[in-house]
Amino acid sequence: MDTFTLAAVLLFFTVGASAQVLEPLNETVLQNTDARFNCSVKTPGWTAMSWTVNGRLALIISELTGPLGTNASYSATNYSTVGEYKWEFVMKAVTAASAGSVGCQVQNNLLVSATLNVQQNGTVAITGSNRTATEGDQVTFLCITRSWLPEPQISWAVNGTKVDNGLYTVISEANGTLMNSNSNFTITAKANVSVDCLASISTLPSPAISTVFLTVQKAVPRPARDQTVLIAITVAFSLAALLALLIILIVFCCKRRRKKRTRYQDEVRARSLSHRQQATYARRGRVRENFGYIEDTPSVDNRDGVYTISGFRQDNYNNNMQLPEVNLSRYADDRSYDGYSFDGLQKHRHLTIV
Ligand SMILES: *[C@@H]1O[C@H](CO)[C@@H](O)[C@H](O)[C@H]1NC(C)=O
Ligand SMILES: *[C@@H]1O[C@H](CO)[C@@H](O)[C@H](O)[C@H]1NC(C)=O
Ligand SMILES: *[C@@H]1O[C@H](CO)[C@@H](O)[C@H](O)[C@H]1NC(C)=O
Ligand SMILES: *[C@@H]1O[C@H](CO)[C@@H](O)[C@H](O)[C@H]1NC(C)=O
Ligand SMILES: *[C@@H]1O[C@H](CO)[C@@H](O)[C@H](O)[C@H]1NC(C)=O
Ligand SMILES: *[C@@H]1O[C@H](CO)[C@@H](O)[C@H](O)[C@H]1NC(C)=O
Ligand SMILES: *[C@@H]1O[C@H](CO)[C@@H](O)[C@H](O)[C@H]1NC(C)=O
Ligand SMILES: *[C@@H]1O[C@H](CO)[C@@H](O)[C@H](O)[C@H]1NC(C)=O
Ligand SMILES: *[C@@H]1O[C@H](CO)[C@@H](O)[C@H](O)[C@H]1NC(C)=O
Ligand SMILES: *[C@@H]1O[C@H](CO)[C@@H](O)[C@H](O)[C@H]1NC(C)=O
Repeated sequence: MDTFTLAAVLLFFTVGASAQVLEPLNETVLQNTDARFNCSVKTPGWTAMSWTVNGRLALIISELTGPLGTNASYSATNYSTVGEYKWEFVMKAVTAASAGSVGCQVQNNLLVSATLNVQQNGTVAITGSNRTATEGDQVTFLCITRSWLPEPQISWAVNGTKVDNGLYTVISEANGTLMNSNSNFTITAKANVSVDCLASISTLPSPAISTVFLTVQKAVPRPARDQTVLIAITVAFSLAALLALLIILIVFCCKRRRKKRTRYQDEVRARSLSHRQQATYARRGRVRENFGYIEDTPSVDNRDGVYTISGFRQDNYNNNMQLPEVNLSRYADDRSYDGYSFDGLQKHRHLTIV
């Protein structure tokens, strides 16, 4: 150490001895709790001690009268002893906004600064609610933490006993200045247990905790369960098949009965229709004949006692319509057909229109 360095150290020490002492120089507190700093001066005769937070004046303390000002967020406590003036600066219920630098200046001395860190406890939650599982099942729990500063320490406990940190995974990511994390923990269901997810940061008195309960049901022997399932499926299928068969049978029967009925109805309709048609044709025949619609000279054939009148326009009725009971005596009365006589027509009533 050369003379110059020694001189510099001595000079610094001399200046420092006359200046104020601030402690601690690095403080970390949890949000909503108080932050405290001590500033002390050995030499008397100072008149004012001023405190700043991030460069802004927060509180002034008078050597004679104590704290000046009325900002409720800040206060001071006198710890002075003989030969040392010492005041404690208290910041009440700090928020993240207060984090930064805290300075103490006595009279015209250099400002001395300390660092204030504010931690934030966020939320912790195991997703889903209480679980039930069958003995031997693998059950996975997901624990989600949100809005912590800094990143919390995640741990898991089963029935209150912490599990080895090799048994779970943690993935963290920042959201702005805050930290989020997800943690998976898988256990094999054996006994009814409580499962805790714990999140902790250094300033939190006790970890934040989320608890769910795992209820384990005794495993039913597998073959028995398989058989039950098989039986259930077989029974279900048999019932379904039986039902289908029944439905088909019912439908078939109904159809047959309806067909029978419709066939009968058709017959009845056909019969009544033919009667009506015949009557109509008979009437028409007469009408036409009466109104002289017969354009061609009808020829009446009398072979085998069947008279056939040809030359009628057929319109839209069927061939060979038989017109029973046509009173052909009128022909005889009203007209004479090319000298044919209509003797014996009363005996033969069948008339065929071609
Ligand atoms: C102050 O303390 C915090 C945590 O307590 C640490 O992370 C940081 O590095 C410290 N800062 C200094 C300047 O020592
Ligand atoms: C300030 O000093 C007093 C007395 O020495 C002590 O009780 C108190 O804990 C100190 N506060 C801080 C923040 O160090
Ligand atoms: C601070 O405490 C010391 C010692 O108890 C006392 O002498 C001094 O008057 C007090 N200062 C004020 C402003 O109350
Ligand atoms: C106290 O000071 C803080 C920060 O300097 C300020 O935000 C707050 O409004 C002040 N409160 C009062 C009552 O003046
Ligand atoms: C942080 O912890 C305090 C007490 O330790 C509690 O009152 C507060 O509700 C917690 N905040 C959050 C966001 O969990
Ligand atoms: C889980 O079970 C415990 C005790 O069995 C009960 O106190 C708690 O309310 C249950 N939680 C939920 C979310 O159902
Ligand atoms: C991230 O932070 C913002 C506000 O700070 C909030 O609205 C948002 O929900 C957060 N996202 C997550 C995933 O936590
Ligand atoms: C946790 O498990 C879920 C599925 O259960 C998966 O999607 C996710 O990636 C896992 N996360 C971690 C951190 O292992
Ligand atoms: C767990 O508790 C339930 C009743 O809550 C009980 O029926 C079951 O047998 C228990 N399981 C074990 C593995 O003890
Ligand atoms: C956990 O605790 C419950 C009751 O508190 C008890 O029935 C169970 O056997 C315990 N399980 C283990 C693995 O210790």
